[in-house]
Amino acid sequence: MNEQLPSKILDEIDDEYLSIINPIITNEEFIRRKKFNHHEHRSVYGHSLMVSVKSYHLAKKLNLDYKAAAIGGLLHDFYYKDWQLNNEKLPLRKQHGFVHASEALENSKKLFPELIDKKVANIIKRHMFPLNFIPPFYYESWLICFVDKYCSLEVFKSPKEWYKYVGLRKK
Ligand SMILES: [Fe+2]
Ligand SMILES: [Fe+2]
Repeated sequence: MNEQLPSKILDEIDDEYLSIINPIITNEEFIRRKKFNHHEHRSVYGHSLMVSVKSYHLAKKLNLDYKAAAIGGLLHDFYYKDWQLNNEKLPLRKQHGFVHASEALENSKKLFPELIDKKVANIIKRHMFPLNFIPPFYYESWLICFVDKYCSLEVFKSPKEWYKYVGLRKK
């Protein structure tokens, strides 16, 4: 996907941010997300970077753990496969919207065990509240939960894509 990230986001990437996320952003498996569709004009890579940069700066402003916000924001959608290419019919509760937060946590623990503490784990696992019923526990988890939704508002420009935002498949 040839993707243009908003210049506002690119301008907000500073050296401290880069040093925090360096092990993730240089990882081949993570870079592969440039090819995963988040929605029409946005890859999972681009979406995750936007959520991470915004959360990092907001966490700094709010005096929260900005390192956890940057890492959790970047890994919140680090699930295994491009679900939009999988045509397998699944029962509702097994569909992407319901399972990808747990998958992302499992995958993150596998690839970046040294970066996943209790808070980062909660950020990733609970970001799909309220679709996933259990609410976030930490302030930072609430932050990513909101920023993720805010960064997905682009989807509203394409009404046909709405169902994809929540990770559900049309019949
Ligand atoms: Fe997600
Ligand atoms: Fe997301």
